[in-house]
Amino acid sequence: MKYSVLGKIMAVVGCAFCLTLSNSGFAAEQPANEDTQVKKKVILDTDMVEMFDDGIAMMMLMKNPEIDLLGIVTVTGNTWANDGMAYLVRQLKELKNLDTTATLAIGAQYPNRKAGGFSKDILKHELNTYGDVMAGYIGAATTENPKSWQEAYRNHYNEDAPDVKVRTDGVDYLIEMVHKYPHQITIAAIGPATNIALAVQKDPEFADLVDEIVYMGGAFWVKGNADEAAEFNIWLDPESAKIAYRAPFDNSTFVALDVTDNTIMNRERYQKIRDSIKNQDLLKLFDKAFFVQQFQKNEKQNFSWFVWDIIVSAIIIDPSLVTSTRYAYIDCVTEKGPQYGKTVPYIKDNAPAGTKPASIILSVDQERFWPMLYNLLSKL
Ligand code: BDR
Ligand code: CA
Repeated sequence: MKYSVLGKIMAVVGCAFCLTLSNSGFAAEQPANEDTQVKKKVILDTDMVEMFDDGIAMMMLMKNPEIDLLGIVTVTGNTWANDGMAYLVRQLKELKNLDTTATLAIGAQYPNRKAGGFSKDILKHELNTYGDVMAGYIGAATTENPKSWQEAYRNHYNEDAPDVKVRTDGVDYLIEMVHKYPHQITIAAIGPATNIALAVQKDPEFADLVDEIVYMGGAFWVKGNADEAAEFNIWLDPESAKIAYRAPFDNSTFVALDVTDNTIMNRERYQKIRDSIKNQDLLKLFDKAFFVQQFQKNEKQNFSWFVWDIIVSAIIIDPSLVTSTRYAYIDCVTEKGPQYGKTVPYIKDNAPAGTKPASIILSVDQERFWPMLYNLLSKL
C-alpha cells in the first residue's frame, strides 16, 4: 500500500501556508474551510449490495471528510451492474443523499470469463466439482439480468426509481477521470475486475495515470471462498483479473482473503453494529442480510461471517490501519480447471513475464478497525 503520506504532508503544508498568509493579511478571500483541504480522490468500482459489505464500503468513503468520492461505477458480481445501481440509489435515498456530488455510472454487464462461461449451470457445476466453499454462492448469475437499473429498482422496492442522473458508460467514465486527474485517483476495486480490464484494454495510458488501485480480491496463502482455489471476485472473472494485474499500475494493493479471513463478524460485533445503526431505513436493509438472519434465527449461535470490501475503504481512509504486508509479483490462473481464478504470488526471480509487483495486506489493526465501523454507522 502506498501510504498517503504525501497527501497528509500536502494538507499540513497547505494549512501552514494558509496560516502564514492569514497572519500576513493575504488570506481574506480564502476561507479555511473543508474545501481547502487536500482530499484523497477516490472512485469506487463495485458489485453493489445493500449494506454489507459493498454498501457500507461506499458509505465509509462518502462520509469521510478527507475523501473526495468522485464517482461510483457498478460491475456485475454479487449483483448485476443494473441491480447494483438500484441498490446504490436506494441507499443514497435512505441516507438522504440523492443529491450526491459523486457521479453514478453503470459499467460492464457481463464478466469476460472466456475459459469458464457465465451461467447458473456452469458456475454451479464448477462449484460442485472444485469444492464449494460459500454454500453454492454464485452472485448475479442466480437471477436474470434486468433490462435497466430503473427496472431493477422497481423489482426490488415495488416503486418507481428516483429521478437521478446515471451514466451507462462506466468504463469510459473511469478513463475520463484518470485523464482529468492524472496520478491523483485511488480506485477502490471491490468487485470483479471487469471494468478495470476493459479500461486497461481501451486506453493504454489508463493504468499509468492511476495513483493507486486497491483490490478486494484473491486468496494467496489461504484457500478460496468460491471454490477451493479462488476468491469470489476473481473466480467470477479470472481473465479480467489477469489483465488488470499485469497492467502498469504504479501502486497495486490487495485486500485478499489472507486478511479478510481474520476479520470476523461474530455475534458480539454483529450486535454492536446493529446497535450503532440509528437510521431506521438502513436498519431495515441491514436486517435483510444473510448473515444477520443467521444471527437472528438462532440466538445462541455465534455464527461467524467475514467483512471484505469494508477493509478496502478503511485502509484507503487510514493507511496506518495496516499492520503487515507482503510484496509479491501477482498472477492469476486463467486455464480451465480446478485452479481457474487462483491468484498466485511469485518472488521476482520466478515471476512469469508480464507480471507486476503488488502489496498484499496480511493484517489490519482490529482494535481500531471495528470501532471505526461502529462510529461511521452511528452517524448515518
Ligand atoms: C468478495 O466477494 C463479494 O461477495 C464481496 O462483496 C467481496 O467483494 C468477497 O470474496
Ligand atoms: Ca464486493
